[in-house]
Amino acid sequence: MGIHFDSVPLSAIVKIRDMMYTVKDPFRLDQGDVSFDAPETFKQAVRSALDANHTHYLPTAGLPRLRQLLMEKMQKKNGIPIESADDVQVTNGGTHAIYAAMHAVLEPGDEVIVPDPEWPPTMAIVIAARGVPVSVPLHERLGWRWDIDEVERAITPKTRALYINSPNNPAGGILTRADLERLAAIARERNLWVFSDEAYEDMVFEGEHVSIASLPGMYERTIPLYTFSKTYAVTGVRMGYYAVKDPVIRARALKVVLYTTSNVSSLTQYGAIGALEGSQQCIEDYRVELKQRRDLFYQGVREAAPDVFSGNPPAGAFYAFLKINPQWVKDAGLPGESLSWAMAEHLIKGARIGCVPGVDFGAASEGYLRFCTCRSRQELQGALASMKALFAGARAPGAH
Ligand SMILES: Cc1ncc(COP(=O)(O)O)c(C=O)c1O
Repeated sequence: MGIHFDSVPLSAIVKIRDMMYTVKDPFRLDQGDVSFDAPETFKQAVRSALDANHTHYLPTAGLPRLRQLLMEKMQKKNGIPIESADDVQVTNGGTHAIYAAMHAVLEPGDEVIVPDPEWPPTMAIVIAARGVPVSVPLHERLGWRWDIDEVERAITPKTRALYINSPNNPAGGILTRADLERLAAIARERNLWVFSDEAYEDMVFEGEHVSIASLPGMYERTIPLYTFSKTYAVTGVRMGYYAVKDPVIRARALKVVLYTTSNVSSLTQYGAIGALEGSQQCIEDYRVELKQRRDLFYQGVREAAPDVFSGNPPAGAFYAFLKINPQWVKDAGLPGESLSWAMAEHLIKGARIGCVPGVDFGAASEGYLRFCTCRSRQELQGALASMKALFAGARAPGAH
């Protein structure tokens, strides 16, 4: 097992983060960490839990009250037909939820269909669980959705599961209800599991978010995965959760959670109860602000670097996944084998702007760059001004 972890990749996001620490006054558009403060309901519940000395071990699956609230949330908001809070388990954030779910389901050599581009830890966790990620491209021309025929063609006798991430990180595409109905039919017909990563369920600007677990006959073969990180702007406190109907898979997942963390922090769990019991207005407030930041950023890029980047504002999530003009890079003589790495380094070194090369999200995504648009308006504006200065100073394409 030790050696096996040598084959588990480390995301470039880590390398970029290290590079950013060497930059003075950086614009941290490399990390998907919302700049909002956590809601007061969450903070107050954490303070009260501390004052009440709720600082001891808890049941591994989570506090009963929390599991009950999470079940109700998944029933009402996501339309998932969960009948018992026993199905629900809490984890150290969404990453841990994906880790537990995939380790509970996959056998060595099982193939998992994943999108390209996709958040790199997904592929890494599939590999950690001894599975094999099989990428199927999302298409920019389809609003960063799958062509479902291509998904169907990628399925082999070894395929065990589909991993869906809608809205998608990094491209922001949202699968439509019709897409999900087709995927559900395929999963039922081919007897596949579905990991449905709904980390960005609340960041929807156009269209609707549908959980595939809500479609007929799908909950029994789907593990819907959620996180508080983005929804309540609490990336550091680590709160994730999922529901599993199958008792065998659920028992396995519980062991993964038990032996990797014993229980999620008591303060986090009490905070989560506070967040769920309180007003949900902050979610809508964040969404409205994120949409404005998205638009501000796209408008700014159009002014700062019209010849360098292209792309339309995404339907969901909070990233800009922009296509790099390869001719511009060639004309500017940026060094390096990889177009997206060359441009990322140019922006980091030349303009102090953190970003992540597209190739890190999948081979088909070389030639793109990801920027996080969830940072404060001030930080986004600073980055845009710096980008404008960089490209105004650079040699114009064709001007040799
Ligand atoms: C697609 C996706 N899934 C899950 C997560 C999990 O986030 P966390 O572990 O902070 O809850 C993230 C975080 O960036 C993500 O982008």
